[in-house]
Amino acid sequence: MTQDTISLVRPDDWHIHFRDGDMLKAVVPTTASVFRRAIVMPNLVPPVTTAAAARAYRQRILDVCPAGSDFQPLMTAYLTETLDPDDLAAGYEAGDLTAVKLYPAGATTNSDAGVRDIRRVDATLKRMAEIGMPLLVHGEVTDPAIDIFDREEVFIETVLKPLMDRLPDLKIVLEHITTRQAADYVASAGDHLAATITPHHLEINRTDLFRGGIRPHLYCLPIAKREEHRLAVRAAAVSGSPRFFLGTDSAPHAVHAKEAACGCAGIYNAPGALSVYAGIFEADGALDKLEAFASLNGPRFYGLPVNETTVTLRKTGWTVPETVTAGKHVVMPYHAGETLDWALD
Ligand code: NCD
Ligand code: ZN
Ligand code: ZN
Repeated sequence: MTQDTISLVRPDDWHIHFRDGDMLKAVVPTTASVFRRAIVMPNLVPPVTTAAAARAYRQRILDVCPAGSDFQPLMTAYLTETLDPDDLAAGYEAGDLTAVKLYPAGATTNSDAGVRDIRRVDATLKRMAEIGMPLLVHGEVTDPAIDIFDREEVFIETVLKPLMDRLPDLKIVLEHITTRQAADYVASAGDHLAATITPHHLEINRTDLFRGGIRPHLYCLPIAKREEHRLAVRAAAVSGSPRFFLGTDSAPHAVHAKEAACGCAGIYNAPGALSVYAGIFEADGALDKLEAFASLNGPRFYGLPVNETTVTLRKTGWTVPETVTAGKHVVMPYHAGETLDWALD
């Protein structure tokens, strides 16, 4: 029998970019209408590097939530070689910070202030391990000599594994995984390591980036890999393993910044994200695992309560907007104008 409704504990998004200003105003209500909580990335310009800056950013997010919304932004600090461990720890204790984000310098959008030598932040990471504060990782090396399609695998071998050996008590989330090597390692590395998986990395491979011409709206980092990697990441997502959970990496950029001689990395997938995930789990015969991935595994890893309300998806079809307006600019969502099977009530 085919299923035409899905009810699940209200999900959370464990990796999102909201930006600031007009973009913030345009994108926050969409996420707040679906997800109860979201881990908000700190890669603003300049980045969010203190508990006070995170508190102020959280207030700007709450200010643009629809009236009556119970959306809860969970804030992160952007790890730099000069971050103050006392400020981080105090922010964590006060609930102003939930995690710290590691961007290797230059790895992705707005990461210039990131870490050049991970050894220089060991004292900070040690403190985080002591207090149970998770480290969220953009897991790519930045050496220009390393092929872009190998950067995640090389990061795991040369940075992540040694880091886990040095600090076995540190809780780490390897964000937006894209390779078989990441899926295999996370599945087997013990309960201090987990991974988020995006909708787009479950659907597209590197060939899709060039289907009929170059597709700037499918360009994100880490870049989509070969089909064998997509299939391995997809198998991990639908496996029911508690180490994998939902993180959209929704990363809006104005159309003019994507469709450019040097276009930015990032896919704005928030509008259709839950529908896309549902379609994937259905196609793989794993709808019974969707709730764990979307709503249970994340809070368990972070040590946070599971949400108390539920959401319902119905197979009535839902059309993703063609564009989203943000002040003077326009953003093109993932699956723009396409009708997805699953609609949120
Ligand atoms: C993100 C962004 O635009 O901020 N871009 C992306 O391609 N994923 C940054 C990131 O998550 O790496
Ligand atoms: Zn990233
Ligand atoms: Zn991201």
